[in-house]
Amino acid sequence: MPDQFAADVAMQIMDAGGNAVDAAIAAQFSLAVTYPEAGNIGGGGFMLTYMDGKTNFLDYRETAPSGASRDMYLNEQGEVVSDLPVYGILASGVPGTVAGMWAAHQKYGSLPWEDLLAPAIKLAEEGFEMPSQLFERIEGYQSSVSEKDIKVNFADYFDGVKTGEKFVQPELASTLKRIQMQGADGFYKGETAKHIVDFMNAKNGLITEQDLAAYNAKWREPIITQWREFTVVSASPPSSGGIAIAQWLQMYDRVKARSGKIEHNSQQYIHVLAEIGKRVFADRAEYLGDPDFYDVPKSALLAADYLDSRAAEVNLEEISNTENVKPGLDESHDTTHFSIVDSFGNAVSNTTTINLSFGSGMVVEGAGFLLNNEMDDFSAKSGVANSFGAVGGDANAIAPNKRMLSSMSPTILLEDDKIKLVTGSPGGTTIISSVYLSILNAIEFDMSAQKIVDSPRFHHQLLPKDMIYYHDTLADDVVTALQEKGYVMRAGNFGDLQVIVNTKKGLEAASESRNRGSAEVTPAESGI
Ligand code: DON
Repeated sequence: MPDQFAADVAMQIMDAGGNAVDAAIAAQFSLAVTYPEAGNIGGGGFMLTYMDGKTNFLDYRETAPSGASRDMYLNEQGEVVSDLPVYGILASGVPGTVAGMWAAHQKYGSLPWEDLLAPAIKLAEEGFEMPSQLFERIEGYQSSVSEKDIKVNFADYFDGVKTGEKFVQPELASTLKRIQMQGADGFYKGETAKHIVDFMNAKNGLITEQDLAAYNAKWREPIITQWREFTVVSASPPSSGGIAIAQWLQMYDRVKARSGKIEHNSQQYIHVLAEIGKRVFADRAEYLGDPDFYDVPKSALLAADYLDSRAAEVNLEEISNTENVKPGLDESHDTTHFSIVDSFGNAVSNTTTINLSFGSGMVVEGAGFLLNNEMDDFSAKSGVANSFGAVGGDANAIAPNKRMLSSMSPTILLEDDKIKLVTGSPGGTTIISSVYLSILNAIEFDMSAQKIVDSPRFHHQLLPKDMIYYHDTLADDVVTALQEKGYVMRAGNFGDLQVIVNTKKGLEAASESRNRGSAEVTPAESGI
């Protein structure tokens, strides 16, 4: 879990007999109170479940408002107006979180809905002690938005509470109570909907009463691939994550067959995975988008002969020229993730976001929650990079009611139908790297849970040209060797992995040491 409050809430629900989905719903609402940089009811996400021996994937991603249009962020010269998709009233998609939690509860919940909201309401009403990391992030955000042309009302809600002091959110508590009493209608209809629509009208936003009433979370087939002796189950479009992770793992094995064993976090390991990443991200930019609007060529992207030929292009020694890596078929941070396994053998891997830290910076007046800036995940203009440096074209162009492409990759590995690994992370496009690297750490390098999450990671995504982002704990000589090879090395700590792994010693859980997460295993669960 990304914080202690959510970890305690999840445990409390499971101690009361709840299953992994019950715990996930309660944790999600708790994070909406205690982890406002990413936890939310004003955003969206994906929940991957393994319940009663069956996998399922819940898409509660935001949608573009019906009044959105392809060129809505372009000026008269046809250029993207900077910051418009990121800050303020026009940055938000129609939130999906409450519909998602409601749908998850309808299908799999075993405890009463009201009980799952109760802990979050208490935290909002009575307050919680402001963690130092949250306080620092609030301060950092305020100083960065104060320099922007687009003004946000963030400070009205988040100013003034210092580390260790109680942070109380009475408006949010009332909103959560309406959700507790009325289910999804407590958000998409009635008083909460009115607050949202009034706020939109007052600030010239786009989300309408009809947009809210029409929002639906969707159950989809997860991306399921066989990798070694494992079944890898991960996010399907509108996330790019599941396809990207499957491509990365499959190509790694093909390249390894040529190169022989590669040492963990050596310059060769990083080079080979960057080479693969170039190809994964070229495909992502061209072929991935909302499957309800664009026919994503899933099977073609995962076909064995396609992956053979893509992997064959990987140069073991040198960097391939970025311009030559084309799509291959025929022609700050914040999001948060949690992983749960219950004592019944079920699992939930859930990634949720309002996109960047604190989303659009706009708090719905009277309802007390932050709205997302997920619209920035669309391609505002073909070939122009978004906040994560990701480019796209038609597949991810803005259209009314369409879901924007995501990198969120909640993932579960099964071995003979038993849980081997539950993993996921925030980090925009770097999510894909954090997740596939956690899989390699667990399987290829047989690491303990804590080592899986704390090992230095790296990320390459085709653009910027030959740039590798890396955790500053990566060995200096490896960084130097990669620079000598021609890579532009940029240090930065991305991601916040939350993993549960079934090792020879039993179930282990871990949360990254450098953040404010918490991982717990009870004796009842460890026997899975
Ligand atoms: O859906 C996505 O891919 C992004 N909106 C996720 C944003 C994110 O992870 C920010 N975190 N650091």
